[in-house]
Amino acid sequence: MTSPVNKIPTLRLGNHGREIGIQGLGCMGISEFYGPTDIQNVEAVIETAIEQGVNMFDTADMYGLGENERFLSPWVRRYRDKMFICTKFGYTRTPENPYDWSIDNRPEYIRTAVNRSLQRMQIDCIDLYYMHRRDPAVPLSDSIGTLADLVVEGKIGAVGLSAVNGDELREASAIHPISALQSEWSLFSRDIEQDVIPVAAELGITLVPYAPLGRGLLTNSTINTVLAENDARHHFPRFTRENLAANALIVAKVSAIAEAKNMSTAQVALAWLYTKAREMQISAIPIPGTRNRQRLAENLAAASMTLSINEMAELNELAEQIQGSAI
Ligand SMILES: NC(=O)c1ccc[n+]([C@@H]2O[C@H](COP(=O)([O-])OP(=O)(O)OC[C@H]3O[C@@H](n4cnc5c(N)ncnc54)[C@H](OP(=O)(O)O)[C@@H]3O)[C@@H](O)[C@H]2O)c1
Repeated sequence: MTSPVNKIPTLRLGNHGREIGIQGLGCMGISEFYGPTDIQNVEAVIETAIEQGVNMFDTADMYGLGENERFLSPWVRRYRDKMFICTKFGYTRTPENPYDWSIDNRPEYIRTAVNRSLQRMQIDCIDLYYMHRRDPAVPLSDSIGTLADLVVEGKIGAVGLSAVNGDELREASAIHPISALQSEWSLFSRDIEQDVIPVAAELGITLVPYAPLGRGLLTNSTINTVLAENDARHHFPRFTRENLAANALIVAKVSAIAEAKNMSTAQVALAWLYTKAREMQISAIPIPGTRNRQRLAENLAAASMTLSINEMAELNELAEQIQGSAI
């Protein structure tokens, strides 16, 4: 007899209504940035995630230069009703120009990008389509207007924005309902708390915190691991040798809090996010990225873990000591 699966709780996606599991899966690392991937392990991760009620799967057209969307294609087609597929456009890097990190929000570019993503995943509709980064040269009325047209045409189900400020979020929302805002938010990256989260909360937009584990820093593993040569974190200020040594001392204190609660460091990081989101009255679906089934189970378990006011205060104090910017 198989034991019953404990599914994660759900919430309704802002300005949309679809029931989404309160933790999603960040798929970026499967194809790029965090060293080599064992594909068999990842397949087990995706199967288990679906079994446990994860339905938000996060990719982008530029992850692996299209490979990440292609990798997800058979899964999305097989489990179409169980996978709420979220992808992004905006970075123009291609296999021909992998180092071109320009941003394009023009209507004609958006139309080309959406068709390419649909084709790569071999689906008719992208459930949530994010503008990955804002190009201020293109008025939001043009880019959001085009996304609104794509909703009417049935090519996308909902509109999302990534890493915009509160004013941009407000302006975009006046053109078309925005369902999700994806921005970096973790115990160690708290910039959006002041000006962005209150706007998202007011407008009923779901927050999708990316890099909720500080790109692996807020775990028991990364600091003790030698990063692969092509790991993108070599270029991030928090991971330089000097900063990493200082940050390891802070992470060790987070780990001590975790141990006292019989939790892992990653679980404390995620429980901090869920607790802080409740405090700020914002609905949030963090999307930790992992290619490992045990870690997935560990991260999902954190969806029902809470921290006390004192533990939150202790963690907030530690967060202030982090060295180096996130990117
Ligand atoms: N909108 C944007 O601009 C943007 C930017 C960055 C990322 N994202 C999205 O957000 C997702 C998540 O962000 P992220 O992947 O950069 O960072 P993250 O989720 O903060 O951390 C991922 C790293 O943590 C490790 N990890 C995960 N769970 C762990 C655990 N329980 N114990 C130990 N290590 C653990 C992973 O390694 P393993 O894989 O080896 O387990 C990986 O190295 C991405 O996949 C992507 O979809 C969006």
